Amino acid sequence: MKRIMKWIGWIFGSIVGLLIVVVTSVYLISGLKLTKTYAVQPTAVSIPTGEAAVAEGKRQFFTHGCIDCHGTDGAGITVIDDAIMGTVSGANLTPGQGGIGQTFTDTDWVRAIRHGIGTDGKPLVIMPSLDYNKMNDEDLGHLIAFLKSLPPVDRTPPALSVGPVARVLIAGNLFPLLPAESIDHNAPRPAAIAKGPTAEYGHYLASQTCMSCHGEGLSGGPIPGVPSDPPYAKNLTPDEETGLGTWDQAAFVRVLREGQRPDGTAVDPTKMPWPAFKHLTDEEITALWLYLQSVPARPYGNR
Ligand code: HEC
Ligand code: HEC
Repeated sequence: MKRIMKWIGWIFGSIVGLLIVVVTSVYLISGLKLTKTYAVQPTAVSIPTGEAAVAEGKRQFFTHGCIDCHGTDGAGITVIDDAIMGTVSGANLTPGQGGIGQTFTDTDWVRAIRHGIGTDGKPLVIMPSLDYNKMNDEDLGHLIAFLKSLPPVDRTPPALSVGPVARVLIAGNLFPLLPAESIDHNAPRPAAIAKGPTAEYGHYLASQTCMSCHGEGLSGGPIPGVPSDPPYAKNLTPDEETGLGTWDQAAFVRVLREGQRPDGTAVDPTKMPWPAFKHLTDEEITALWLYLQSVPARPYGNR
């Protein structure tokens, strides 16, 4: 009996010991990643001025989903607030109290949006710069012109705190919570691209606005590593069974403009941000359609 107790104690002790090692490692590794400093000197982007530039930038702000985390007024929304993931809020981008607009230089805007790095050189959490890194100078310039025109809103976002599950995701590279880690900061800037109803322009748009949910292969399914409920992103490839193989362009336009499928069912606006896509031009929607028709058909869900 005594011997068994001793064994149980030994096993229990080992498990506790192992847990302590694992937890300590997770905190150490995630801590190192969160406080790592990136010495990135962004290439200057020329920022246009004037009403037309600001209006074009506002369109970029909407179609790129900035409103999901920074709100339509740019003052920031608390997107995560629980014990296991922590507290994460989109920054207040305006020049109001608690906003970065008061002090941000043109270089600071480029560093944050294109590289996912704050003014202190540390990686921004969750801010999807891996997508925005693909924006070319023209679009980014317009976007920044709009951000600089935001009216002041006083809001001090709650301090960032990274919970235990988020730390596991960061330490284990399970989900890109720190996009700065996955960006090639020395890559050449995305080339200027002619706007127009072409598959090439559609690919440029889709890589920044559709692939984060529908996958790089555009075949949909749950996003790996993110706890989420259905409906999951759909298959946008020309697959006949699960994709857009039997759709025509008018049906595609209706989803982006009105959130309605050919069979009349509604597309969930809280999952698929079609209300923001009303800021896409007709030409952009045509470009997206031509691009989606040109990709290889793939079965649903292998992303
Ligand atoms: C999925 C949520 C999300 C989306 C979408 C998003 N952001 Fe952010 N953004 C954040 C979070 C969270 C932070 C603060 C991160 C931190 O403090 O580590 C942030 C920070 C920033 C910062 C830097 C603030 C600072 O203090 O350095 C800028 C600038 C910014 N976002 C602009 C944008 C723009 C422009 C867009 C759209 C093109 C956008 N964001 C889309 C979540 C998001
Ligand atoms: C934030 C995630 C997200 C983004 C970004 C996104 N989608 Fe979706 N999309 C979804 C989800 C989730 C659904 C399924 C919604 C439902 O079934 O109610 C969906 C459904 C669709 C559908 C309907 C397909 C069908 O078979 O019913 C189309 C078409 C579509 N998306 C196109 C696009 C295009 C084009 C873009 C880029 C301009 C895009 N989506 C960007 C998440 C997203």
